[in-house]
Amino acid sequence: MRRSARPDGATAWWQDAVFYQVYVRSFADSDGDGIGDLEGIRSRLGYLELLGVDALWLTPFFRSPMADHGYDVADPRDVDPLFGDLAAFDRLVEDAHKHGLKVTIDLVPNHTSDQHPWFQAALAAAPGSPERARYYFRDGRGDDPPNNWTSIFGGPAWTRVPDGQWYLHLFAPQQPDLNWDSSDVRVDLVQTLRFWLDRRVDGFRIDVAHGMAKPDGLPDMDPAVVAVMAGAQTPHATDPRFDNEAVHDVHRLIRRVLDEHPGTMAVGEIWVDSDERFARYVRPDELHLGFNFKLAQADFDADAVRRAIDRSMAAAGSAPPTWTLSNHDVVRHVSRYGDGAAGTRRARAMALVELALPGVAYLYNGEELGLPNVDVPDWARQDPIHHRSGGAEEGRDGCRVPMPWEGTEAPFGFTTGESTWLPIPDDWGPLTVEAQLEDPASMLSLYRQAVEIRKTHASFSGTELEWYGAPPGCFAFRRKGGGLICALNTSAAPVPLPPGEVLLSSAPLEGGLLPPDAAVWLA
Ligand code: GLC
Repeated sequence: MRRSARPDGATAWWQDAVFYQVYVRSFADSDGDGIGDLEGIRSRLGYLELLGVDALWLTPFFRSPMADHGYDVADPRDVDPLFGDLAAFDRLVEDAHKHGLKVTIDLVPNHTSDQHPWFQAALAAAPGSPERARYYFRDGRGDDPPNNWTSIFGGPAWTRVPDGQWYLHLFAPQQPDLNWDSSDVRVDLVQTLRFWLDRRVDGFRIDVAHGMAKPDGLPDMDPAVVAVMAGAQTPHATDPRFDNEAVHDVHRLIRRVLDEHPGTMAVGEIWVDSDERFARYVRPDELHLGFNFKLAQADFDADAVRRAIDRSMAAAGSAPPTWTLSNHDVVRHVSRYGDGAAGTRRARAMALVELALPGVAYLYNGEELGLPNVDVPDWARQDPIHHRSGGAEEGRDGCRVPMPWEGTEAPFGFTTGESTWLPIPDDWGPLTVEAQLEDPASMLSLYRQAVEIRKTHASFSGTELEWYGAPPGCFAFRRKGGGLICALNTSAAPVPLPPGEVLLSSAPLEGGLLPPDAAVWLA
C-alpha cells in the first residue's frame, strides 16, 4: 500500500520514493570496453527490482568529450557512443518500466561542453556577436581576467581565447557557462526536456540548480570569500557566482514544461547553505524536490545527524525532504565514518536512519554493498579536480570505482573485458553482489529488508517527526502518523531501546540493548 505524503491524501510516486543513482560509467559494462553503458544497466534491472528501489537517476550519458565524465555535454539530445545509442536508451526505459522502475535523467543547464557546436561557433565569431552572447565572453582588465571569480574545480573561472576575450567557466575550462539571458538558451532547454519526455522519462535531476543566473555586471567576489571557498562546494552566503534571483525563472520554466506531462518530476542539485534560501527552489511553481546534502555533510554523531535532519526538514518547505548519504561527488560514507569494520557498522546504522525518514531517499550505486572509498593510484586518476589542483586535491575518482558483481577476481563481472576505467581493488571479492545476496548479515540484505519494510509497513506513513529524549550520543525519533520509531546510538556504550516491537536493527541487539554504532526500527 502506498503511503500518502500530502495532506489532501493524493500521492505522487516520487513523494516517498527510494531513488537509486546509477553512475553510468561504473554500474555495468555490456561491450567489454571497461566503461559502463546503457545495455549494461538494462542487463541488471532484475537486480534493481530485487533491491526494491522505485526509480533510477542516470548520470549524464549524452554526447560528450568526457572532460568531466559527461557533465560536459556536446549534444544534450543524443547518447554518447560510449554508452550506446538512442535505441538502447529506449529499450532501457521500456524494460525499466516493465520492472516497475521509473527513469529519471540528468540535465546540465549551467554549462555546455567546449565542443558543443554553439561554443565552437562562439569561438569562431567576433567579440560582441550573437554567437558569443549565448555564453559569458568579456574583455579582461588589462592582462587580468574580467573579475576574480574562481572555478569550483580550482584556478580562475576565466579562460582567454586567441582574440583576447575571456569566457566564464565555473567548473572546468571545457565547461563554458551558458548565458541564461539568451532566449536561444531557454528555447533549447525546453526542446531538450520535451525530447526526453517524448522518450518517456519520468523526471530530471537538474545539475548545479543554484547556478545558471549570474549577477549584473559580474562583480568581484569578496577576497576573503575567495580564500574560504577554495575547494568547497557549498557557496558562501555572499558568493556572487550562485543562488542569484533569476535562477528561479529557469526553474519555473522547467516546471511549466513538466506540468504538461503529469507524473513527471524534477529534483535540483542545490548547494545553498541557508534553509530559507534553499526552500525557495521548491516553491509550488518551481522544482518538485531539492537535493539537500546536510546528511552527507554530518559526522557520525547523534547531535550532528539530528541537526542535519531538522535543517533538511526546514529547508524542504512544503516539498518532501530528500536524503542522501553518498553520491558521485563525495567520499563514500563507509569511509567518511571511519572505514573498516567501524565505518561499515556506522554506515549500516545510517542506512536505517536515512530510510526511516519521511520524504525521498537517494541511494548511490554501491552503497548497498557497503563499498568504501578507494585510494585510486595516481596513474589511474581521471577527475579534473585532481588534475586542475596540480594533484593537491584527491578528486572524486575514489567514489566512482565500478561495481563488483560476482566472482573472486577483478573485474568481478563488471565487464567482459580485462580492465575497467578505474581499477577495482583486488580485495573486493567479499563485497560483490553475488557474495552478499544470500548472506542475511550482509549490507545488501540489510538494504533489501529496509527498503521492503519501508514500502510495506504501515508505521512509515506521516510527514512529520517528533524527537524523544535519549541518552547522550543517541537520538530517537518517531514518525507522527504511522508511528515508526528510529533510534541511533553513536555513543560508546549500549543503551536501552525505546518501547515498541523491533522491526529491524543494523546490528544484533545485546541483551535487549542497542549497541554502539547501531540503529534500530521499532513500531
Ligand atoms: C555537479 C555534478 C558534478 C559535476 C558538476 C559540474 O556538481 O554532480 O559531478 O562535476 O556538477 O557539472
